[in-house]
Amino acid sequence: MINVRTLCKRHGARTILADVTATVAKGEIVAIVGPSGGGKSTLLRCLNHLEWFDAGLIEIAGFTLRPGPAGADPTTLSRLRTKVGMVFQQWNLFPHLTALANITLAPRVVRGVAAPVAADEARALLARVGLGDRAGAYPHELSGGQQQRVAIARALAQAPEVLLFDEPTSALDPEMTDEVVAVMRDLAAAGMTMLVVTHEMRVATELATRVWVIDRGTIVEDGPPATLVSAPQSQVARDYFGRAR
Ligand SMILES: Nc1ncnc2c1ncn2[C@@H]1O[C@H](COP(=O)(O)OP(=O)(O)O)[C@@H](O)[C@H]1O
Ligand SMILES: [Mg+2]
Repeated sequence: MINVRTLCKRHGARTILADVTATVAKGEIVAIVGPSGGGKSTLLRCLNHLEWFDAGLIEIAGFTLRPGPAGADPTTLSRLRTKVGMVFQQWNLFPHLTALANITLAPRVVRGVAAPVAADEARALLARVGLGDRAGAYPHELSGGQQQRVAIARALAQAPEVLLFDEPTSALDPEMTDEVVAVMRDLAAAGMTMLVVTHEMRVATELATRVWVIDRGTIVEDGPPATLVSAPQSQVARDYFGRAR
C-alpha cells in the first residue's frame, strides 16, 4: 500500500528527512510518535505531495511520487488526494457551509458525483461518525470533537485507500478526544489503512498495529506496540512508552 524508499527532504541546508525507508501493508495502522520538530508532519505531507521531496521515491495507493516540485503531475495529484485522505489537528471546515455541504463539496467538484447521490453518501458518513442528526449544522454550531468527526467524514467521502492523521486529537479536550478515538477505532475495525501522528497513548498502544518513532528525520524504531512498550530501544521510546507500563 505504501513503500517509501530512501526519502530525503531538505529545507535549505537543513536535512528534515534523512533516508527514510519504510513500508505499510493494507489494513495496517501505524502510530507515529517522537519529539517536536523530528519530521513527522513533513513525512505525512510528502506522502500526499503537499510537500515535494529532494531524493528517494514514494509509492502510495498505486501512485508513484518522484523527487522535485514536479514529482507528480496535476492529474495524478488530484487523483492521489482522493485516494490518500488527510485529517489535520485543525479541522479546516468551510465556516459558511453546513456539515453536509462540507462533505459533499469534493465528491461533487472533483469526482463529478451528482448532488443527491453525494448528499445520501454524506448522510451515511455523518451517521457513521455519530453525527446523523447534525447534517444541517454549521461548523460554529459544533464542538471541536464534532468538527473533527465531520472532517473525518469529509475525508471518507472521497473513498480513500489510506488516511493520514496529523495530531487529530491534540486540540481537543479528553471527552472529545474519546469521541474521535472511537471513530478511528471503528475505521480500524473496518480495515482502513491509517498513519496517525499522535500523542494519544491509546492510539499508539491499542489501535496501532505498528509504531514508528521518528527523531531528527529518521525512523529510529519500527515495531509492534507491545515490543516498544516492553523493550524500547531508543530514549525517545523509553520516555514515551514509560507512561504505558
Ligand atoms: N517550510 C519550512 N522551512 C524550513 N524548515 C521547516 C519548514 N517546515 C518544517 N521545517 C522544519 O522541519 C523540521 C521538522 O518539522 P515537522 O515535520 O513539522 O516536525 P514534527 O511534525 O515532528 O514536529 C523542523 O525542524 C521544522 O522547523
Ligand atoms: Mg507536526
